[in-house]
Amino acid sequence: MSDKIIDGKLVSEKIRNVIKEKAQRIQKEFSRVPGLAAVLVGEDPASQIYVRNKRRSCEDVGIYSEEHKLSESTTQDELLSLIDKLNNDNKINGILVQLPLPSHINESLVLNSVSPEKDVDGFHPINAGYLFEGQPKFIPCTPHGIIKMLEFYNVEIEGKNAVVLGRSNIVGKPAAILLLQKNATVTICHSRTRNLNEVLKNADIIVAAIGKAHFVKKEMVKEGAVIIDVGINRLENGKLAGDVDFDGVREVCSLITPVPGGVGPMTITMLLWNTLKSLEESIG
Ligand code: GUN
Repeated sequence: MSDKIIDGKLVSEKIRNVIKEKAQRIQKEFSRVPGLAAVLVGEDPASQIYVRNKRRSCEDVGIYSEEHKLSESTTQDELLSLIDKLNNDNKINGILVQLPLPSHINESLVLNSVSPEKDVDGFHPINAGYLFEGQPKFIPCTPHGIIKMLEFYNVEIEGKNAVVLGRSNIVGKPAAILLLQKNATVTICHSRTRNLNEVLKNADIIVAAIGKAHFVKKEMVKEGAVIIDVGINRLENGKLAGDVDFDGVREVCSLITPVPGGVGPMTITMLLWNTLKSLEESIG
């Protein structure tokens, strides 16, 4: 059954090798190293793990990285002034503000303050706009990673019914736009969707990004569907679980991403990709 697995680690490794080679070439030719700054406000344990993984991955491919860990009580002005400094720092090509931010901070104000040229998350309205009109500059990392995995496994997207579960700005909305640009017929489902089971059962591709452990069950999935599981849910026993009931669904689907080892590594890889791209564009 392992032939049904979409191996995010494998696809990541291939892309990271390309990033590493390109970074080495740029260093030789231009004496420049791509640089990423990650900003973390507060103590959210999941965010701390993400940021730590990002740092390690940067080291592996030759990207300089900085972490700015700020306390939960950091004011919005303090955060904005750090971002301003990073916007003007030549060592830094990519700025990532880890979400979620504490509730006293206005998230969209902060994301809008990141220079669009260094917005490696693709969350600035200018980059969201470019994506919307089909001329993306920085594509949000998780949806970008999803498309790369589908391409690597030669999954046909054109003309297929793609159902995206979840409508977040980070995953659901940009994933839907990218699938649409690949000529899928896209449906976005969310907490108010009425005929969810019916819609899902008709899907050739399902992207599950709702943050509910084991939500998508075997009975909801069409025979031969391709399943992308974005969920990272911590169960009471401490184990990680996706939004998809993996053991059941793998019996009926044609391809499925595991959790962990599917979407997760690809998100970080596409962040590295965007950081390199930012440096490449600044060199011209
Ligand atoms: N929190 C969860 N996913 C992400 C992401 O892709 N980028 C940022 N900045 N924060 C996140």
